[in-house]
Amino acid sequence: MTDQDFQAWMQEVQAGVETALETLLPPASAVPHRLHEAMRYTALGGGKRVRPLLAHASGALFGAEAGALARVASAVEMIHVYSLVHDDMPCMDDDDLRRGKPTVHVAYDEATALLVGDALQAQAFAALAGIDSLPPARQVAMLRLLAEAAGSGGMCGGQAIDLDSVGLALQREELERMHQLKTGAMLRVSVILGALCGKDLAPPELEALNAYAKAIGLAFQVVDDVLDATADSATLGKTAGKDAADNKPTYVSILGLDQSKELAEQLRREAHQALAPFGEQAQRLRELADLIVQRKA
Ligand code: IPE
Ligand code: IPE
Ligand code: MG
Ligand code: MG
Ligand code: MG
Repeated sequence: MTDQDFQAWMQEVQAGVETALETLLPPASAVPHRLHEAMRYTALGGGKRVRPLLAHASGALFGAEAGALARVASAVEMIHVYSLVHDDMPCMDDDDLRRGKPTVHVAYDEATALLVGDALQAQAFAALAGIDSLPPARQVAMLRLLAEAAGSGGMCGGQAIDLDSVGLALQREELERMHQLKTGAMLRVSVILGALCGKDLAPPELEALNAYAKAIGLAFQVVDDVLDATADSATLGKTAGKDAADNKPTYVSILGLDQSKELAEQLRREAHQALAPFGEQAQRLRELADLIVQRKA
């Protein structure tokens, strides 16, 4: 498969995600207009859509049902967008640029940003609950997995550790734990939920997907840290150099730039190895691991 195939596949998935989100998000014409407008402002028309891409790639591997997959992809993106809106608020990272646009609390106001996040999170679970093509027991298991990935044992927990760690020189294991929670958990659940749109997973399948997801989950945040230190704001669509300015412990601050890049490359190889049992069929997941490590934004 060529790189061109991959680009075309990505564009197709991204366009599908845009359409699904358009449909699943309340229209701005519905009351309260301003809240719905702000939800659409932040969720539509931007972002790399990495989590939906992961869900689609693993879904394809397990013969996922298309309607369920569209809802899973939208749900993980809604949780992700909510996490970005709150991450940017003055009480957290205090950022004014996201996806090349003013952040929600800047374009609207802080209370709206808070509510946009809350409402997107609720909407994500409504999207999953609205799947009508999967066995109910599996659907409940999927709702639980998403809740665990988003909650205090996942993304929110990682964000709490992030905020508590300002100015601290974390041990490497502590840093890895923080990254696995704040970023890895949502990437991992995207992979698993995509697969569950196809079938119940046998233990070796789950094990292989988990090993893949663990590697790319960590790699994603290592690369995010590297890009924060090396890229410019225009390329990133968000403020560069923010981690150092805020005294956040990152892979760059703890390992240095070169070792961080090496680690990302090593994790890319680990991700590929984890996919070995799936053979050629897992090509899209392999390509996404490469994208996550080699991306420039
Ligand atoms: C940024 O995520 C926040 C992290 C979890 C590191 P992305 O880099 O996926 O942001 P978008 O969705 O493309 O804007
Ligand atoms: C945020 O990590 C991760 C989540 C939003 C859960 P960062 O704070 O590093 O993300 P960016 O760099 O602002 O996108
Ligand atoms: Mg943050
Ligand atoms: Mg941030
Ligand atoms: Mg960052």
